[in-house]
Amino acid sequence: MSVETKFFLDENELPKKWYNVNADLPRPLDPPLHPMTLKPLGPKDLAPLFPMELIKQEMSTQRYIDMPEKVRDVLRLWRPTPLYRARRLEEKLKTPAKIYYKWEGVSPPGSHKPNTAVAQAYYNMKEGIERIATETGAGQWGSSLAFACKLFELECMVYMVKCSFNQKPYRRILMETWGAKVVASPSELTEAGKKMLEKDVDCPGSLGLAISEAVEDAMKNDNTHYSLGSVLNHVCTHQSVVGLEARKQLQVAGEEKADVVVGCVGGGSNFAGLAFPFVHDKLTGKNPDVEILGAEPMACPTLTKGQYAYDFGDTAQMAPIVKMYTLGHDFIPEPIHAGGLRYHGDSPQLSLLVNEGVIKPRAYHQIECFDAAKLFAETEGFVVAPEASHAIKETIEQAKKCRETGQEKVIVFNNSGHGHFDLSAYEAYFAGQLVDYEYPMDLINESLRNLPKTGE
Ligand SMILES: Cc1ncc(COP(=O)(O)O)c(C=O)c1O
Repeated sequence: MSVETKFFLDENELPKKWYNVNADLPRPLDPPLHPMTLKPLGPKDLAPLFPMELIKQEMSTQRYIDMPEKVRDVLRLWRPTPLYRARRLEEKLKTPAKIYYKWEGVSPPGSHKPNTAVAQAYYNMKEGIERIATETGAGQWGSSLAFACKLFELECMVYMVKCSFNQKPYRRILMETWGAKVVASPSELTEAGKKMLEKDVDCPGSLGLAISEAVEDAMKNDNTHYSLGSVLNHVCTHQSVVGLEARKQLQVAGEEKADVVVGCVGGGSNFAGLAFPFVHDKLTGKNPDVEILGAEPMACPTLTKGQYAYDFGDTAQMAPIVKMYTLGHDFIPEPIHAGGLRYHGDSPQLSLLVNEGVIKPRAYHQIECFDAAKLFAETEGFVVAPEASHAIKETIEQAKKCRETGQEKVIVFNNSGHGHFDLSAYEAYFAGQLVDYEYPMDLINESLRNLPKTGE
């Protein structure tokens, strides 16, 4: 029996094409709508925000999309990432399950986010754009875009959700090290920010609001485009390198197939990255029984308690309207430490697959997720991001089930990032200061009353 712990691929085995799940969805996505006219959006409507190549990818139904050599060249700085077998965790749990994880914490910013940041910066640079504005929650996305912009010589402007800005000062310094300008959102720099501050000067911010600020910035400045680190189809497509590599690495590890695939879900990008190549296998009959599970926070239970409906991608109703699971664009989640999971909506592709029953969502409280992250650190060594702790929690639940049934399932999860800049969250956890928030159904219902009237 193999006792190896890490399974690598050669640099030349880095995928040459991305996988686009649009080609395999059980039904086509509902079209995105213009935020003002509520009519279907065309490529021209998106041109002030994104380069044409990304707009094409957003709408493409082609199964595989070529990765530019210049993008692969940058990704080779840390990819292919290792697939680990979590033997010590298995032993601790006394489970017959085999637990594997894809370790995305080895990238320079420390997460999966640069997989798309590099591609997005590259296409913007090619189109002559000089500056990119974006939002960030926990700071993983902002630092990934700052890093990518530096490599392609673009300016980077980051609106960072205020509660994370205060919780994670070192993330801001990392972004500044790569040359980005960072402000707390809501900020005084945009109309959306000013309006919110007038209403509530202590507003902790949200991803939805920070998106509004970044979109407004891009609309106001001709040399500037907007970039989103999750949710959109092209982002999920860029993240597919994770799952494409993992499938090959499982073979290297001697596994015929995965039985359970797990990821945490914020806007859906790391989950999609690992899971969508396995969704392909499930829907095309290569591995029809694989279970695909997404874990989200109870405080922001988009897939488990949200409505499958058209909604704005942002609080100020400037971003496109998409059909997705949503808690309503007005919903501001409690300031849990998994800042990257505090988003009211979700990827339309992932939402459709949940709606069709292909993917199953679960929700967990933050304290039980930190318990899981602590156990992981004690057995496997790595201190993970609070977001990734949700995937670990789900994995542990699955492994415990195997202990009861005696099944030797192969479980693979996406370990989406390290928690080196999240130690204040661990400190609060150890000090017993973390709070678990029940499903805020009254707030969710109130916010759902304000969905756009699209006639659906
Ligand atoms: C480490 C990590 N994992 C997961 C997420 C959640 O985002 P997504 O659902 O797009 O992967 C984030 C977002 O910031 C993150 O930083």
